[in-house]
Amino acid sequence: MGNNVILLQLLLCLIRLQITTTIIPSSLASGPPTNITILTLSDNTIPIDWFPPLAIERNDIILSYNITYYGNPIDTNLTVEEVMASPNQENSIYYVILEAYNNYTFVISAVNSIGVGMESEPMYIETQPTAPDQPPQILIVEFFEETRILLGWLPPLTEAQNGLITSYIIQVVGNPFPSMNEFINVSNITTDYPATDTVTYLLSGPEEFNNYTFSVAAVNSEGIGPYTNELTQETLPAAPDMSPRNVTAFSDTTTQLCYLYKSN
Ligand SMILES: *[C@@H]1O[C@H](CO)[C@@H](O)[C@H](O)[C@H]1NC(C)=O
Ligand SMILES: *[C@@H]1O[C@H](CO)[C@@H](O)[C@H](O)[C@H]1NC(C)=O
Ligand SMILES: *[C@@H]1O[C@H](CO)[C@@H](O)[C@H](O)[C@H]1NC(C)=O
Ligand SMILES: *[C@@H]1O[C@H](CO)[C@@H](O)[C@H](O)[C@H]1NC(C)=O
Ligand SMILES: *[C@@H]1O[C@H](CO)[C@@H](O)[C@H](O)[C@H]1NC(C)=O
Ligand SMILES: *[C@@H]1O[C@H](CO)[C@@H](O)[C@H](O)[C@H]1NC(C)=O
Ligand SMILES: *[C@@H]1O[C@H](CO)[C@@H](O)[C@H](O)[C@H]1NC(C)=O
Ligand SMILES: *[C@@H]1O[C@H](CO)[C@@H](O)[C@H](O)[C@H]1NC(C)=O
Repeated sequence: MGNNVILLQLLLCLIRLQITTTIIPSSLASGPPTNITILTLSDNTIPIDWFPPLAIERNDIILSYNITYYGNPIDTNLTVEEVMASPNQENSIYYVILEAYNNYTFVISAVNSIGVGMESEPMYIETQPTAPDQPPQILIVEFFEETRILLGWLPPLTEAQNGLITSYIIQVVGNPFPSMNEFINVSNITTDYPATDTVTYLLSGPEEFNNYTFSVAAVNSEGIGPYTNELTQETLPAAPDMSPRNVTAFSDTTTQLCYLYKSN
């Protein structure tokens, strides 16, 4: 008998609950996701962990979350990723893949049947540097005043610098005379991040009538990046009365090589 009364009360209670949950219209989540944790690891696949908004602020079942982020000073497009919520409304974890050595701003909002709810306070993270992953751009080689060779290049593309460029390495190979075979460390450069300035280097005293092959790599705190394609400059035989004065060669780092010279 007593059991039946309890069952009846339970039934009524369930009906009331049913009524209240169905008659209260849903609205946007009025609070942000909580306990957001962003870890920075040594690689730049970053785990983000968070909990749903407080129960009283969800205003309906949370279906998904929109994660919005952008980068600075490497300006990345505003990215929004939508992540499914866990069905039991527990914490969620999601991995974003970011550019190396950049500052990112993140906000997360919970999405319910009505739409996108309140954003979290912005969170900031700085990603770790990694070695440059592309070579410098456009190597220019110019035979200069007969005893010097001028080299010039631009830093790697902004998103390939991956850290503050602190120096460049020039690889020089002489052929057929193996003169000046060496790696030159160019560290007298201005260090801005991201680097944009053209860098020039004047190589003194090349051997006459020889071929020199050059390639250049960028260096940051994490290591040396890839070398540019090789570019060759031929020096001229000593011939005081007939020596060309103005020889230049330039290349787009591939195969074109163009000589311009003027003899006396
Ligand atoms: C969220 O963080 C607060 C304060 O740090 C803590 O008291 C609470 O237990 C955390 N909640 C969850 C679900 O981890
Ligand atoms: C940013 O968006 C523009 C236009 O949609 C696109 O052309 C460009 O490739 C995007 N840049 C990056 C880094 O995703
Ligand atoms: C953010 O959430 C809304 C609501 O679900 C969705 O329509 C929108 O596509 C999401 N934004 C992105 C870029 O995924
Ligand atoms: C990120 O921002 C901080 C504070 O403004 C700054 O000190 C740091 O150099 C920035 N990091 C990068 C990679 O630009
Ligand atoms: C280049 O020279 C600088 C300054 O002397 C030095 O700190 C750096 O370690 C050198 N880099 C390499 C790759 O040898
Ligand atoms: C760095 O040194 C090289 C070789 O002496 C020179 O050609 C170049 O102009 C110098 N660069 C700067 C920025 O001083
Ligand atoms: C430089 O290389 C070119 C192409 O291989 C060759 O024709 C030329 O004879 C070489 N110059 C010298 C000085 O060896
Ligand atoms: C070499 O070329 C430059 C630029 O084309 C020119 O200004 C200079 O006068 C030339 N020098 C000689 C010795 O012809």
